[in-house]
Amino acid sequence: MTEPLVRALAAGLMLLAYAAMCLAIWRRERRRRAADARAASALAGDGQQPPVLVLFASQTGQAEAIAWQTGRALHAQGTPARVMSLNDLDAPTLHAAQQALFVASTYGEGDAPDGASLFTETLMGTAPALPALRYALLALGDRQYAHFCGFARALDDWLQSCGAVPLAPRIEVDNGDPAALAEWHAQWGGGALEATEDEAFAPWQLVSRTLLNAGSEGGPVFHLGLRPPAGVAMQWQSGDLAQVALADDPGRPRDYSIASLAADGELQLLVRQECHPDGTLGKASGLLTSTLALGDSVALRVRAHRNFRLDDNAGRPLILIGNGTGLAGLRSHLRARARAGQHDNWLLFGERQAAHDQLYRDELDAWKSEGVLQRLDRVFSRDQAERLYVQHRLLQASDAVQAWLARGAAVYVCGSLQGMAGGVDAALRQIAGDATVRELTASGRYRRDVY
Ligand SMILES: Cc1cc2nc3c(=O)[nH]c(=O)nc-3n(C[C@H](O)[C@H](O)[C@H](O)COP(=O)(O)OP(=O)(O)OC[C@H]3O[C@@H](n4cnc5c(N)ncnc54)[C@H](O)[C@@H]3O)c2cc1C
Ligand SMILES: Cc1cc2nc3c(=O)[nH]c(=O)nc-3n(C[C@H](O)[C@H](O)[C@H](O)COP(=O)(O)O)c2cc1C
Repeated sequence: MTEPLVRALAAGLMLLAYAAMCLAIWRRERRRRAADARAASALAGDGQQPPVLVLFASQTGQAEAIAWQTGRALHAQGTPARVMSLNDLDAPTLHAAQQALFVASTYGEGDAPDGASLFTETLMGTAPALPALRYALLALGDRQYAHFCGFARALDDWLQSCGAVPLAPRIEVDNGDPAALAEWHAQWGGGALEATEDEAFAPWQLVSRTLLNAGSEGGPVFHLGLRPPAGVAMQWQSGDLAQVALADDPGRPRDYSIASLAADGELQLLVRQECHPDGTLGKASGLLTSTLALGDSVALRVRAHRNFRLDDNAGRPLILIGNGTGLAGLRSHLRARARAGQHDNWLLFGERQAAHDQLYRDELDAWKSEGVLQRLDRVFSRDQAERLYVQHRLLQASDAVQAWLARGAAVYVCGSLQGMAGGVDAALRQIAGDATVRELTASGRYRRDVY
């Protein structure tokens, strides 16, 4: 066989293997959704007895998982339950409800997570009379933040101002505190705590580590490659998270956005080394970027991040917006798109200086020249007198943003919650209007992995 023929055959085989993998993922996802739908209708019972609403407000899925556990436990006790995101709750359903259990996390500065952004903008901005509603509330939070359980507390105040009556005092959970969670499960789960669906932590081996921003004014950023131990499958979707456990801080694992595909044969992360004012390194980022030697292992597990997956947006144009290490989550999506031959992608990436902070420069340049990226905007905040960020570039490109949205584009935002995510949200609202942003959120076309 001639060399071009061999190459063509090999390329064909790779494409076939990739198509088979996509099909397997799609089938698994379809099975999961069908199972969710079956579970939801099974939990809701036969319609004789009104179901208890189990409503969750979640960003990365913890509140959602607890809500489903609670729904299943109620069902097991013979109580029909209807589990749903607060963003999917409408006024008639809330008015008709007699009992509701809320599980709500908090983000930003006491703000609602994205899974309740529509609810806060719409229903929570009104004052319905809900005297028939009996409710309980599980608040997820972390005392390291200034506004501990801020959103859940505001939700509790709002429910009481509407005349709803608490069945029990609000339970506040500091950083997954098992005692507080057990109290909730004792009240609503028949005392039985179901095992979590999370994978166990396993020792993943660090196989490569490269500094990507030598000379940067910001903290050093490293590209890491990790491999699982024998028996642990490399299984995740673009948009998912890796969680790292620490021996000396066991209750507080750290999340990192996965920057690669399982098909890459390696779990890759983009980690910024944190340095505290006293000169010590951040616990997890210091471990990953400095303490660990190549060949050493770290306790890691993959965590599904359903809110940030491609899902139904796989066939749409994508506007990907991020800064700093936020490029990790966008890169996994772009790698998936490149493999799928889906080239309708626009990346807006912000960092400090072109001279030092061009993360994944060659890969992005290659994607631009190969057409995987239709448009690439790299915005460097400190290369000119005035500070320029991705949100400013969005506003400058307002016409193009509108044209992409009109073509059905979905928007993925990854990176800093402070500064970037809020600025991008404001810019989108200025460009497209609040109603369109609400519609994008409701239809899953606006997704964020921000921290
Ligand atoms: C969904 C999600 C995705 C993420 N993705 C990424 C990613 O892709 N890449 C990435 O780099 N990061 C990512 N992060 C952030 C990451 O999880 C960690 O928060 C980050 O690496 C810092 O953790 P650490 O253990 O190194 O720092 P820690 O030791 O936990 O320190 C963190 C903070 O605690 C305080 N602190 C702790 N000790 C001291 C001290 N001695 N003196 C003063 N202050 C102190 C400071 O406020 C400090 O900034 C993500 C976070 C989330 C929630
Ligand atoms: C970026 C970030 C900001 C957070 N802000 C707050 C906060 O202001 N107040 C609080 O009590 N908890 C805060 N938390 C903690 C979360 O509410 C908590 O981890 C919760 O369990 C997450 O649940 P979820 O995955 O369902 O969103 C924050 C967590 C992150 C990662």
